[in-house]
Amino acid sequence: MKGRIEKALNDQIKKEGQSSQFYLAMASWAETQGLSGTSGFMYKQSEEERFHMLKLVKFVNERGGKAIIPGFDTPPTEFDSVNNVFELLLSHEITITQSINDLVEVCLEEKDYTTHNFIQWYLSEQLEEEASARAILDKVKLIGEDKAGLYLFDRDLENSTIVAASANTVNPGA
Ligand code: FEO
Repeated sequence: MKGRIEKALNDQIKKEGQSSQFYLAMASWAETQGLSGTSGFMYKQSEEERFHMLKLVKFVNERGGKAIIPGFDTPPTEFDSVNNVFELLLSHEITITQSINDLVEVCLEEKDYTTHNFIQWYLSEQLEEEASARAILDKVKLIGEDKAGLYLFDRDLENSTIVAASANTVNPGA
């Protein structure tokens, strides 16, 4: 594996791990607010990001590179609101999508088509995650300051009806 590819993949390993920690902090905050649906959703997101990190670690090592297991910055412990949590989730995912796009570009420049092929999975994951974050954020914005609305939103999130609806938008018939 070329050094530039190895470095780019290791940078992405750190970003995926940092995302996992960020969402874990959101999950924990939501749990302390009694928002079990939001919390459950974020715990699951955190696990998914950890899986994204591990998949990269395995790939780098299996292709003869050396994965670097990073340390992480402490994520925030407080969030202003559920709206704030989902705004942050979406903007964070947008930066991760950009980072995956950059990775694709490096693969093409280095003519590393195996890594390019491997990264396609991340591109479609990003598409789904952004769509899901946008769908949820749209719902949160409708609620505004309405406490009863927030209760129902959180319950719907727990039952995954919001996420299922957004998944069908990305992949109709799935
Ligand atoms: Fe794995 Fe959502 O970035």
